[in-house]
Amino acid sequence: MENGYVAVDTDGRVTGVAADLASLGVNVSEPCRKSNGEDVEIVDFGDRLLIPAMNDLHVHASQYRNQGIAMDLELLPWLQKYTFPEEMKYADTGYAERMYRRFVRDLWRFGTMRACVFATSHTESTRLLMHLFQEAGMGALVGKVAMNRNCPEGLSESVEEMLQGYEELIAEFNNPEALVRPIVTPRFVPSCTPEMLRACGELAAKYRLPVQSHLSENKDELALVQTLESIWYGAAYNRYGLFGQTPTVMAHCVYTRGKELRLMKRNDVMVAHCPTSNLNVASGMAPIRQFLDEGLRVGLGSDISGGHDLNIFRVMVYAIQVSKMHFLRNHARPFLTLPEVFWMATKSAGSFFGKVGSFEPGYEFDALVIDDSDLNHDHYSLLERLERYIYLGDDRQIVHRFCRGNEIIM
Ligand code: GUN
Ligand code: FE
Repeated sequence: MENGYVAVDTDGRVTGVAADLASLGVNVSEPCRKSNGEDVEIVDFGDRLLIPAMNDLHVHASQYRNQGIAMDLELLPWLQKYTFPEEMKYADTGYAERMYRRFVRDLWRFGTMRACVFATSHTESTRLLMHLFQEAGMGALVGKVAMNRNCPEGLSESVEEMLQGYEELIAEFNNPEALVRPIVTPRFVPSCTPEMLRACGELAAKYRLPVQSHLSENKDELALVQTLESIWYGAAYNRYGLFGQTPTVMAHCVYTRGKELRLMKRNDVMVAHCPTSNLNVASGMAPIRQFLDEGLRVGLGSDISGGHDLNIFRVMVYAIQVSKMHFLRNHARPFLTLPEVFWMATKSAGSFFGKVGSFEPGYEFDALVIDDSDLNHDHYSLLERLERYIYLGDDRQIVHRFCRGNEIIM
């Protein structure tokens, strides 16, 4: 909408969108008052773009130092050689605080107001990350990472220690309405014994907590899961109550087909599509068009540090480009379009956090104001301006950021 208005109430929820103030009940002769007498504050952003804020459905805060390095291995050796050694450093809360501060600030910079985040298995540094999100006023589902096999001792915890850590975090952050909440996070099947997976499923059920993990990312990983659990990947999570029994998001799903796809649909398990990660770790191309055709909910994830770019606008571009490669290999289905990937990063991913990601009435006002005057030198249409910002813009053009109606300033 050109020169339109979004109306937001004092709880930070959108009440309407209109081309003129009168349609929103504002008394035009006395524009700080509604016709029913209520006060209104009118903020004029001029010719800037006002869009829903970004949501990152899958990101490892604890891998921030490895962003942009270590791209020479596939998933399983990559975890052992680069990722686990880095995550072990988060036993030190001083290190965790330095890195997590940068991470939260950079999410903010790129306009991501909600994220599904993996911390590490360390309870104290996970708590610290949750406090940093709270201080910032941004939304985050933060996972203490459950893991007890195929990893160094410094990351492994007993089932009892894992439960104890979660109980502490849940006791502190137990409000279902809060912007920052725990999410049950078994790292992935190869990292968790059956007892660990079962305990995670029971924990999610007990507190009605959401669940996040990794699914069908890499072929060697699939073979390992088959050896460990004697069953296909999604069924292994499902067996322990970790596959849609509470709201669930699974990252990657590069090799999800057939039974696994149908079970995800039936259980309403969301897909976090991470195209940069799938390229960097040489995992493959997820069949996102097929997922959409089958009615799965799909959002985008930066998956730092498998992925290298925290900027979700850039991840949108990769999602389109990977989809075109997929299309060139197999013309059976069309490639993804800009409106589709924009929807994935806003309304679709936002649905995992509640009524988030749209300016429809009742949605929380999470928004970005973008000053694209440098990019808009030849009078592009509104849609072209958005497209150019997505392809060419960066954090320098984001001039205001809102989460649940509050302007977030750092
Ligand atoms: N599978 C299990 N752990 C990880 C991780 O840290 N990154 C990615 N990309 N996949 C995983
Ligand atoms: Fe990941």
